[in-house]
Amino acid sequence: MVSRAKPLANEGKVADYIPGLANANPEALSIAIFQEDEKCLSAGDVEEKFTLQSISKIITLALAIMDAGEEKVFSRVGMEPTGDPFNSIAKLESMVPSKPLNPMINAGALVVTSLISGETVDEKVGRILTLVHDMTNNPTIGISHEIARSEYETSHLNRALSHFMKQHGVIEGDVEQNLETYTKQCSIEVDCKDLARIGMVLAKGGKDPDTGREIIPSYIARIVKTFMVTCGMYNASGEFAIKVAIPAKSGVSGGILSLVPNEMGIGVFSPPLDQKGNSIAGVKLLEILSSHFKLSIF
Ligand code: DON
Repeated sequence: MVSRAKPLANEGKVADYIPGLANANPEALSIAIFQEDEKCLSAGDVEEKFTLQSISKIITLALAIMDAGEEKVFSRVGMEPTGDPFNSIAKLESMVPSKPLNPMINAGALVVTSLISGETVDEKVGRILTLVHDMTNNPTIGISHEIARSEYETSHLNRALSHFMKQHGVIEGDVEQNLETYTKQCSIEVDCKDLARIGMVLAKGGKDPDTGREIIPSYIARIVKTFMVTCGMYNASGEFAIKVAIPAKSGVSGGILSLVPNEMGIGVFSPPLDQKGNSIAGVKLLEILSSHFKLSIF
């Protein structure tokens, strides 16, 4: 399956609007599948590390709801998909109030990050990392400070979105500190096995697959999985739901976290992206896997 998907990577382009991402190896392709009985199966360049980027948005969404409650979070960010790109500013101006359409686009994720508890950037980032450690069962995971800095210094669009929302009272607190927290959450470094285990925790309704301990309340895991289906692949979410038919969340580093409810967590990685910011070979690999093993949730 890996060798069938690999040639497609040649049609994509590694993200370079964050300078630190431009050095990624375009040839890397990996997949890991975490299942209850067989544990973790993997193939390809499984040792390759990459940053979570937008995949971090599902983790911060869960944490913000745990911290601030569902009502407060969804008073600031909507629940509807958008046909616009992930970094679009267009809808913010036409919506009254200026509430972003959903927590998976950049505007929505910036609001979500502002709702995480903590007095300082370090405290907030520490709490995000703790949740990542719990979900992956990998306490060695940290941040690529090089990529975080590279994004923070060039985040003009996210800075503009943030100031727009601050002006309209959707974001409270210091914009720069929130951007620093956001760029650090996006720069958490994982491999595809880590993604697969996070997927498995969500697949299990928020429970640790080994111990059964609740990491995320099940109603929050359900909300996160629903957003993965409706908005996880941005303005390609509809096509992905038809062709692959399982919840998934992509990131511009080329990672995709996916899952089959109750059954498995899946992590894939291949840096070249399509025009909508999703990994080309990663999507193909998930499509082949889903059709071969009949994984569709519909
Ligand atoms: O804010 C950004 O633009 C990036 N840190 C994350 C965007 C992203 O991963 C979109 N995903 N496909």
